[in-house]
Amino acid sequence: SKQVLERVGATIAVVPHFPKDGIMFRDISGLLASPQEREEAFDLLYQAAKDKQIDAVAGMDARGFIFGLAVAERLKKPFIMIRKPSKLPNSIALSYELEYGSNTLEIQKEATQGKNVWIVDDLLATGGTALAACQLVEMAGGKVAGTSFLVELDGLPGRSKLEAKGYSVHTVLNYDVDSTT
Ligand code: PRP
Repeated sequence: SKQVLERVGATIAVVPHFPKDGIMFRDISGLLASPQEREEAFDLLYQAAKDKQIDAVAGMDARGFIFGLAVAERLKKPFIMIRKPSKLPNSIALSYELEYGSNTLEIQKEATQGKNVWIVDDLLATGGTALAACQLVEMAGGKVAGTSFLVELDGLPGRSKLEAKGYSVHTVLNYDVDSTT
């Protein structure tokens, strides 16, 4: 409901110019500190997933672990970690370009192969992280059942980048990328 969304949204602070000038950072610390709103946020993410055909949930290092595990637990399905480099044994890696430099993510093929994987993260911004996660799942022999995010930043190409490749996108809260409220 609208009240639940407002309650959840009210726990997420916007921090102007963090971690660098011009970035309006959405801080989920207040949500994690609030047991009621945290559970409501987990339930909203679960609602987006519950009627889909899903064999496993994957979340991205680090905040995607928090929300992804909560969804996996509600679905009673396996959880797969998509990690930053050199953390996962027997993993495959994918590097992707950022505005400055590049990032790498890794996944374990054994956990992913043959599964319909639902991807969860806290935030969709440029979509680089999420697109890499989708491609990693496929490299590992899985299929992407869909992607979901607690927060989507409007005015960035994240959603269109994912939808252009055929991945569905589900988000709970939307904010303009430049908004300070
Ligand atoms: C943040 C966020 C997403 C990603 C979104 O993670 O949690 O994973 O950036 O940005 P994008 O859509 O532009 O790719 P970050 O890399 O800061 O890692 P963290 O979760 O460890 O803080």
